[in-house]
Amino acid sequence: MNSISSYQDQVEKIIKGKSFGANPKELYEPISYIMSLGGKRLRPVLVLMACDFFGGDSSKALHPALAIELFHNFTLVHDDLMDNAPLRRSQQTVHEKWNNNIAILSGDAMMVRAYQEICKSDMANLSRLLEIFSDTAVKVCEGQQYDMNYEILPKVSIAQYLKMIELKTAVLLGGALKIGALVGGAKEEDAQRLYDFGKHIGIAFQLQDDILDVFADVEKFGKQKGGDIIANKKTYLLLKAIELSEGNRYMKEELQQWINAPQFDAKEKVDAVTNIYNFLNVKELARVEMKKHFDLALTFLSDIPVEESKKQNLIAFADSLMMREV
Ligand code: IPE
Ligand code: IPE
Ligand code: MG
Ligand code: MG
Ligand code: MG
Repeated sequence: MNSISSYQDQVEKIIKGKSFGANPKELYEPISYIMSLGGKRLRPVLVLMACDFFGGDSSKALHPALAIELFHNFTLVHDDLMDNAPLRRSQQTVHEKWNNNIAILSGDAMMVRAYQEICKSDMANLSRLLEIFSDTAVKVCEGQQYDMNYEILPKVSIAQYLKMIELKTAVLLGGALKIGALVGGAKEEDAQRLYDFGKHIGIAFQLQDDILDVFADVEKFGKQKGGDIIANKKTYLLLKAIELSEGNRYMKEELQQWINAPQFDAKEKVDAVTNIYNFLNVKELARVEMKKHFDLALTFLSDIPVEESKKQNLIAFADSLMMREV
């Protein structure tokens, strides 16, 4: 069993040694740029950890691990374009540094490179890996579409929000674990348990992302503060604030006025909505929902017939995600 940082080092090493293409440079430079900006490398680490967890040889999981990180970075490039985000990992986003068309096309090429990586996996389970990978990837697109639909939908339920984040974020953590598990020789039912563990950790992870979008130290977090507020993203925080402000006419009007404002000063809106969040204590409510999914995740892990001591790494990893500031 390796430490989490040693898995991260392995991932970093293969990414550093990899060329994604050279010409035309406008296509490939953005790929090298985004891939070399770091990030936590959570998903490829999950692939390797899952493979080890079932006693597999994690060097066999390196191609799928890289595939998943490429796919994740592709989603970030397109997500930043869709979210109109200026900053990613404390640097300019691809569409800001180059332009929108370059972000679209280099993103597309990353998706293809991801498939090429996964195709280098062991033939024995290649078709199954491709099936899981494709199923996961299309779910991420579904989640991203709901995310955008909800920006302009005035009424979104908590259940709709949870389904949306399951699709846009959580399934990829689940999929990473499931692919790693199958490469490691897990039975399908145990790989599915690990998937469900990852899915609930992923839901908690996105709840924390929504909290950090408003409350993080920007220097650490590396994304624009309050981007979700500016875009009227229907986050857990906003949905709870809408619900709780029902009982307070003044607050309800103020919140609705910010949501409906056709033009506004971004900082003013972020500050005003953040004040409402603070007043209504919605961050604490989001933390409660996170804890619920974290606990649920652990029940799936405990159902897997693998020695308890081998589960500690995955539990420590999940724990660190709950406390993260980055
Ligand atoms: C960002 O993911 C996108 C979300 C699903 C919230 P990460 O927070 O894992 O981003 P990096 O790869 O570490 O930058
Ligand atoms: C992330 O949602 C989902 C995907 C990238 C697929 P966000 O839009 O919240 O992610 P960040 O905050 O920009 O990283
Ligand atoms: Mg975004
Ligand atoms: Mg988004
Ligand atoms: Mg976010």
